[in-house]
Amino acid sequence: MVKVGIDKIGFFTSPYFIDMTELANRRHEEPGKFLIGLGQKQQAVIPPTQDVVTLAANAANKILTKADKDKIDTVIFGTETGIDNSKSAAIYVQALLGISKHARSFEIKQACYGGTAGLQMAVEHIRLHPDSQVLVLAADIARYGLQTPGEATQGGGAVAMLVAAEPRILEIEDKRSFYSDNIMDFWRPLYRRDAVVDGHYSNNVYIDFFKQTWQTYQRDYHCNIDDFQAMAFHLPYTKMGLKALRSIVNQSHHPERLLAQFESSRVYNACVGNLYTGSLYLSLISLLANSETLQHGDLVGLFSYGSGAQGEFYSGRISEQFDRRPLKTDMEAMLSKRQKLTISQYEEMYQAGLPLSGGDKQFDTASDHSPFILEGRHEDQRIYRQN
Ligand code: HMG
Repeated sequence: MVKVGIDKIGFFTSPYFIDMTELANRRHEEPGKFLIGLGQKQQAVIPPTQDVVTLAANAANKILTKADKDKIDTVIFGTETGIDNSKSAAIYVQALLGISKHARSFEIKQACYGGTAGLQMAVEHIRLHPDSQVLVLAADIARYGLQTPGEATQGGGAVAMLVAAEPRILEIEDKRSFYSDNIMDFWRPLYRRDAVVDGHYSNNVYIDFFKQTWQTYQRDYHCNIDDFQAMAFHLPYTKMGLKALRSIVNQSHHPERLLAQFESSRVYNACVGNLYTGSLYLSLISLLANSETLQHGDLVGLFSYGSGAQGEFYSGRISEQFDRRPLKTDMEAMLSKRQKLTISQYEEMYQAGLPLSGGDKQFDTASDHSPFILEGRHEDQRIYRQN
């Protein structure tokens, strides 16, 4: 069977962040609760000049050549921060980046699972059409509201993945297990910008779905935990993945190996926060860029979870051609260039987006130097600009 998987991967987040110790102090919490209890050091703050379209366009812009743009025949956008109830965010990104107009473009949604659904659809498409390429975008802005328990688990950003035959990063295996149920752990009614969440219940459901999919995967493919050199998780906050891993790690003869790989897989998520659909893929980037022991051919398990709820466990092998150095250089350059906001500046920026009630709006774009920005809204149309 032809090898199919992630050939290129790119990440983009806001140029602004807050420090979690400063947020804890302002909210009269022990900093240890956010830093250790949740495993978060910093949080991306998304300015009004960025939405999921610009975040995704900025992520994809980093990885696509002109030849890629001509060859892509499908653009799949996974998001739960859609900007329109009808038109997909994929069409905007396709146009902003100059991707072939002969591609089909659409958006899919199932909370944080949308990126994985898109990736698996892309893999199946390439297995049938190995000469084509698919662009998968996973972009979100995680919002719970100021001074809520969820506030410490906000964030945002986008991951862009080019899926192709003979991939140079991760070969995705044709092995996966699913578990889904109608659960009200987290959702966002159409009239709200901030999610509704039953936080502790959502943690329990996440662990339950992880165990369900892990057991089914083991049973169906006759494998055990020591076949895996690492596991990457959807990370709504980084301690969540650690809790899931701890729930099975004693099945391993080398628990310390998986726990050490987990530390590599959460480095960037701890500095960005939750980006919903993109969180598992930011964790994968973090693992790939920071692990000094992962080798070509090693097997990585991936757990995707989207509230509501859908779980999937699947696996991939590190490609022969993979080189972690350019990925690490790019990630560190981007994260270190960000500007730290005070908590008051963050609170002001948090309230500044496009009102749900409609109306024209022009943003001050002077301080956002990202390649693609949102200038505002005019006659119900979002106005995008390339810097
Ligand atoms: P909370 O109730 O304020 O926090 O909110 P807590 O009291 O549970 O404390 C958190 C942890 O800090 C605990 O650790 C404390 O012990 C520890 P745990 O017992 O859980 O291991 N702690 C300390 N540690 C060190 N030093 C200290 C200290 N004090 C306390 N001084 C909660 C936490 C996660 C519930 C909240 O932030 C929330 O509701 N977040 C949003 C929901 C969420 O992220 N759920 C995750 C699973 S659902 C999911 O992943 C899907 C999602 O991404 C959405 C989608 O699919 O679209 C969210």
